[in-house]
Amino acid sequence: MEQKEDLLKEVISHAKEYGFVFPSSEIYDGLAATYDYGQLGAELKNNIKQYWWKAMVQMHDNIVGIDASIFMHPTTWKASGHVDAFNDPLIDNKDSKKRYRADVLIEEHIEKIRQKINKEVEKAAKKFGDAFDEAQFRATNPNVLRNETKITEIEDRMRVTLENNDLEGVKQLIEDLEIVCPISGSRNWTEVRQFNLMFSTEMGSVAGDASTIYLRPETAQGIFVNFLNVQKTGRMKIPFGIAQIGKAFRNEIVARQFIFRMREFEQMEMQFFVRPGEEMKWYNHWKETRLKWHKALGLGEKYYREHDHIKLAHYANAACDIEFDFPMGFKELEGIHSRTDFDLKQHEQYSGKKLQYFDPELNQNYVPYVVETSVGLDRMFLAVMSASYKNEQLEDGSERVVLRLPAQLAPYKVAVMPLTKKDGLPEKANEILDDLRFDFNCQYDEKDSPGKRYRRQDAIGTPYCIMVDHQTLEDNTVTIRDRDTMLQERVAITDLRSKIDAKVSWRNLLTK
Ligand code: GAP
Repeated sequence: MEQKEDLLKEVISHAKEYGFVFPSSEIYDGLAATYDYGQLGAELKNNIKQYWWKAMVQMHDNIVGIDASIFMHPTTWKASGHVDAFNDPLIDNKDSKKRYRADVLIEEHIEKIRQKINKEVEKAAKKFGDAFDEAQFRATNPNVLRNETKITEIEDRMRVTLENNDLEGVKQLIEDLEIVCPISGSRNWTEVRQFNLMFSTEMGSVAGDASTIYLRPETAQGIFVNFLNVQKTGRMKIPFGIAQIGKAFRNEIVARQFIFRMREFEQMEMQFFVRPGEEMKWYNHWKETRLKWHKALGLGEKYYREHDHIKLAHYANAACDIEFDFPMGFKELEGIHSRTDFDLKQHEQYSGKKLQYFDPELNQNYVPYVVETSVGLDRMFLAVMSASYKNEQLEDGSERVVLRLPAQLAPYKVAVMPLTKKDGLPEKANEILDDLRFDFNCQYDEKDSPGKRYRRQDAIGTPYCIMVDHQTLEDNTVTIRDRDTMLQERVAITDLRSKIDAKVSWRNLLTK
């Protein structure tokens, strides 16, 4: 745990040092839970967006993308249920004066029990070696079974109390579990209260309720209100999807852990419209497809797990998270939700407009069901950064910090360097750079020793460094160094493009 906390600190300071992420308005001491992406962060973020857009929109005939506005008619949020139900149950510790989400406190308690089970399993695995049968052990070991039962009981109580908005019951559960405040260590809790997460502002010059509008807390509603526009103008046939990348805003009370939970963040969402009754088939399809998309990045299978929701959002009949092993432990990266026909029906009711689809095969009109995939762009950023950040001990005893970013996501694909600043080498390096930059984002670097320059590129995740030396002037070859293996190879300048492309092309990722 200690080590993982260090990792988060290291990632934060690395992100700042190299221009990936800065605290927002830092010269005024920052603004809580808001961050700015710097010159390299903007590149990495754009590449993540591209990966998502290509995989979700451009690789699917039946998915199209839109870009809706952040401000929407206020009735949208009444219809969607956000005005009445987009709340977090909050509890304060009277001693530390810290505020927590009550459900998160309980989930963290459950996670501790899970860790106990895992320790028990690890211990047994060590003891029994090759003969160890994990499934059998989990099914029969009394300690594991007792803890599993505990988890089920807590989860059931949490679900029932939250679903019934029984806030006293939630507090009672926290007291019964003897959960203490991580800061003060005390159990001196306030009552649990509901807190709406939407930011509101005023539109126009007339004050009062009529002009109160909200900053969208999810991009999804921009898709729902455009369902018919897109279906009709795009001649879309069910099943089809509408995708969108954009900003969302939530007045998160427990906003911490760097860019994991922010008040202004970006979502990449896709609503997939299906025939009523077919939603579970598509729900399973998208769960599988989205997990594959994540794993194709090659960060490692161990980073992912699926978690079915206990507390369903007000619109869902099934929901699952793809969780990622962040430096703070496993946490939600993406949500896949079967949203039924809730949203479209609500918008029909509140707008008085029909939002139906005529299915020519069934010869029938209906309100489609929706399966949603929703991933936080900033969380993807943190997942990719933290899993790629490596502090490596090299064979010669030295150390290097390297960002082993998936090559397609790396801010720069290539750094072109002249060995020295004279003898025409910079001119030759610039000639190569000017040609490669049509296809790849490149950087020119001539300052400091080659070793230092390599380290600098390792630290920002550049997959290839090209060194232009005196031999280049004679035979038009250069050395190309691989970030991960650190091996150098001599290649003809004319072969550079295909060599780099073989590593960084989107095709590699999208065909996985
Ligand atoms: N339209 C469904 C929806 O918004 P959600 O589970 O509330 O569902 C989807 O959010 C994703 O958005 C999450 O899985 C997470 O990656 C991201 N997200 C949510 N709140 C966030 C926050 N405060 N900061 C950063 N990312 C957030």
